[in-house]
Amino acid sequence: MTTADLLTARLEMVRDRTLDLVAPLDEEWVSRTPDAIMSPPAWDLAHIAAYEELWLVTRLSKQQPMHPDLQATYDAFETPRSVRGEIRILDGRESREYMDAVRERALEVLRASDMSPDGPALTAGGFVWDMVAQHEAQHDETLLQTLQLMPPGAYSPCIGALPPGDDGVGAPDPVRIEGGTMVMGSPAGRGALDCELPAHACTVAPFRLDRHPVTIGRHLEFIRDGGYHDERLWSAEGWAWCRSEGVEAPLHWQPDGTGGWTRTWFGCTEQVDPAEILCHISFHEAEAHARWAGGRLPTEQEWEFAARHDPASADDAWAPWGVDGHDGRANLGQVSFRPSRAGAYPDGIAPSGCAHMMGDIWEWTSTEFHAYPGFRAFPYREYAEPFFGDGYRVLRGGSWATQSVAARTTFRNWDLPQRRQIFSGVRVAWDAA
Ligand code: AVJ
Ligand code: FE
Repeated sequence: MTTADLLTARLEMVRDRTLDLVAPLDEEWVSRTPDAIMSPPAWDLAHIAAYEELWLVTRLSKQQPMHPDLQATYDAFETPRSVRGEIRILDGRESREYMDAVRERALEVLRASDMSPDGPALTAGGFVWDMVAQHEAQHDETLLQTLQLMPPGAYSPCIGALPPGDDGVGAPDPVRIEGGTMVMGSPAGRGALDCELPAHACTVAPFRLDRHPVTIGRHLEFIRDGGYHDERLWSAEGWAWCRSEGVEAPLHWQPDGTGGWTRTWFGCTEQVDPAEILCHISFHEAEAHARWAGGRLPTEQEWEFAARHDPASADDAWAPWGVDGHDGRANLGQVSFRPSRAGAYPDGIAPSGCAHMMGDIWEWTSTEFHAYPGFRAFPYREYAEPFFGDGYRVLRGGSWATQSVAARTTFRNWDLPQRRQIFSGVRVAWDAA
């Protein structure tokens, strides 16, 4: 396979996923958003096309954009989410036509492109095509957050099976991590995005980290213990958020009337499963749960150390299991539509002993989103830089809704501390005993 064939296959794999995801969506909801914090699905679809057109067509050839009048509409900064539901956008059919037409042009340009490793940085090794595939995969995850907020009946996806996992609730199981020096961030030339660069030495002190992310069962204990009403467990900002929003449980949960809880996901209401990994909590809830468990959130340095540092290898492992992909080792890829049960992936355990570091849920860290030392925005300023130092917190590890093209142990995600429509959970850290 040539690099061009590989990149074509990668772009097509993600595109198939995008179209499969929206196929079961009720036509009425393609152009409507269930919540002003999200976009109508049709906006994401045409934005995917506009981004691909910008990077793979107009920047690499002399061609003009197909919809010059709509450039601002599909620019994420010029047209923020709060207004996307109220302006004229392409409908579902028009958006899909735009995606197809751009793809045809992009593949033509791709076939004529030089991607030699010593060429311009944008195309060297196929970087920009990989970036576009990652961008579409990220928007597929965003689409899933929107679809999760849809009213019952609007979206009924086809849900894939998961390996069994443990039955019990499981007490916290702290793994002692000795710490040391590792190379944090991604080596250049592996498709990493600018905020993961440059790789730099980082020293981590000894600490302890839970072998598993927090399960629903553990969080039910937090609820029964009055965690949502105990001010001592929350930061001042977190407590103000919790009280003003009247939060009593994770997003999408409802009391079942007999003292238990159900949740409604993708239009389906079911009893919560105590063994499943907890999802849809804010940074504030993550912090309160960790404090209740006698611990704290890990820093993103600690998280990355536990996920990829391998004392037996010179180059720290790319994923907990090396570089050969996640099949059977992690719940990634948007097939399960929910996190797995703790213990479901014994073959995906990191050298540190921690399980589920990749997939299932994005793990909140205590770290505010900032540039790494020596950061340089590339190839455009708006991907990460505007969010540095603005109260965003780093999340790590990817969720069940992340595709493997966008999943790696160096990947940095970020969101506001009150957000919980994202597929977010928590793993507790403790200082070294
Ligand atoms: C990395 C998930 C925070 O969705 O805001 C999509 C990804 N950037 N289009 C986001 C992104 C531009 C970004 N996150
Ligand atoms: Fe985008």
